[in-house]
Amino acid sequence: MFHAPIVPRVRKRSRPAEAGVARHEAVKFEDVRLYLVERKMGSSRRSFLTQLARTKGFIVDDILSDVVTHVVSEDCEAPSLWTWLKECGLRNLPNMHVLDISWFTDSMREGRPVAVETRHLIQDTLPTLPGCSTPTPVARVSQYACQRRTTTENNNKILTDAFEVLAESYELNQLEGPCLAFRRAASVLKSLPWAVQCLGATQGLPCLGEHTKALIEEILQYGHSFEVEKILSDERYQTLKLFTSVFGVGPKTAEKWYRRGLRSFSDILAEPSIQLNRMQQSGFLHYGDISRAVSKAEARALGNIIDEAVHAITPDGILALTGGFRRGKEFGHDVDFIVTTPEQGKEETLLPNIIDRLKEQGILLYSDYQTSTFDISKLPSHKFEAMDHFAKCFLILRLEGSLVDRGLNSTEGDSRGWRAVRVDLVSPPMERYAYALLGWTGSRQFERDLRRFARLEQHMLLDNHALYDKTKKEFLAATTERDIFAHLGLEYIEPWQRNA
Ligand code: UTP
Ligand code: MN
Repeated sequence: MFHAPIVPRVRKRSRPAEAGVARHEAVKFEDVRLYLVERKMGSSRRSFLTQLARTKGFIVDDILSDVVTHVVSEDCEAPSLWTWLKECGLRNLPNMHVLDISWFTDSMREGRPVAVETRHLIQDTLPTLPGCSTPTPVARVSQYACQRRTTTENNNKILTDAFEVLAESYELNQLEGPCLAFRRAASVLKSLPWAVQCLGATQGLPCLGEHTKALIEEILQYGHSFEVEKILSDERYQTLKLFTSVFGVGPKTAEKWYRRGLRSFSDILAEPSIQLNRMQQSGFLHYGDISRAVSKAEARALGNIIDEAVHAITPDGILALTGGFRRGKEFGHDVDFIVTTPEQGKEETLLPNIIDRLKEQGILLYSDYQTSTFDISKLPSHKFEAMDHFAKCFLILRLEGSLVDRGLNSTEGDSRGWRAVRVDLVSPPMERYAYALLGWTGSRQFERDLRRFARLEQHMLLDNHALYDKTKKEFLAATTERDIFAHLGLEYIEPWQRNA
């Protein structure tokens, strides 16, 4: 994954006889494979340096291939070197260290491969033209998540997990700017089809600032970051994380409790002056269940329950799974559905009817229903990240294990046979369906960048209700998500590619 730490291990490596002389040299650094670029260096100096390195236990390959880890060059003209490297047809080029001779001489002096530092790097300064055929995956990455395809497979989890800790820490301290910067950086790395193994590989990637680059370097070198570790062990961070993990508790409430000296759930529950609202009471009551991930099989079982309710109420009802499960995630913190009907106005009574039915079935543990405040005449909204105006409800449902394929995602020894699950239902009018579906499918970062792209690149305003063209001064109609991407001039991105 990341560049392995340098552990000198002595092993005999036999190489084919060279120039009639059979020689055996001890390889000390198995994880490092050098290649010396002959251009500018010249062949005699190259063979001298090759011999020198080999006597010091380095592997030096004569041929440049994908197994090479360190490319060393005396060519100080970066563009021509990079043009040549890109023409070599290497798949692993983004992960190779491309270094100037100073790294080599430092390593020879130390008798071991020294850590790669920025000053050693030969930077790729080549602009990549659109449609350019040389494989330069890095240069093609867009700064907008809605122009990247991000599956649930994350090749850079070790880095993105670290960025997310920092983002969360900034969020808990209500510092929006740096929080967003780390979220953006994490999102860029999540979209890469390869693992970053050296800082050089991040060259040309958007949204990576000095701070993120320093973190990447630190993690690649040591396997972890001291800054991240410090945050994770910080009492304030731990307490705020714990408090905000309760349904109904946001950063502001958590902060208030922390300032009052409260540090644990029992502190809160024992404090007589704290009045928990209904949502928080349910949050504490079902904490064990709803803080545990919901599985795909559980989401499917809930889909069946909601589907049955919708169709018992109206035969032409429409139900769609959205949120993380629509993006192909295996687990989620809740299950999100859109319910509507083609009969205009009828969607208004849909949610209250569903809620009544769930109550009759005895599976409604909590319900917070919000009526629609949708008013087309109040659009377009300039508010970024504003909550949408559709009728919706935030529920906690009781899910029987017998309804779930291969059973519940429950903790061992739990013999109740059921669990509590968070479910969100949103009910837009049918003509708003495509916008609601796009908005609720997420991810949050994908949505943020769709809106940012619309605003900055197309002079349009997008939210969960509509798309407004500020140039033409008109709303753009859409019946499918594809219509919306087309209005925005974006290539269509499938839901499972929106895990930004
Ligand atoms: P979630 O918070 O459920 O996230 O919101 P998720 O992607 O499904 O992830 P997990 O697995 O549950 O943790 C789903 C989408 O719905 C939008 C959010 O912006 C997100 O993209 N949403 C949610 C709204 O647009 N409005 C809301 O009131 C709530
Ligand atoms: Mn969700």
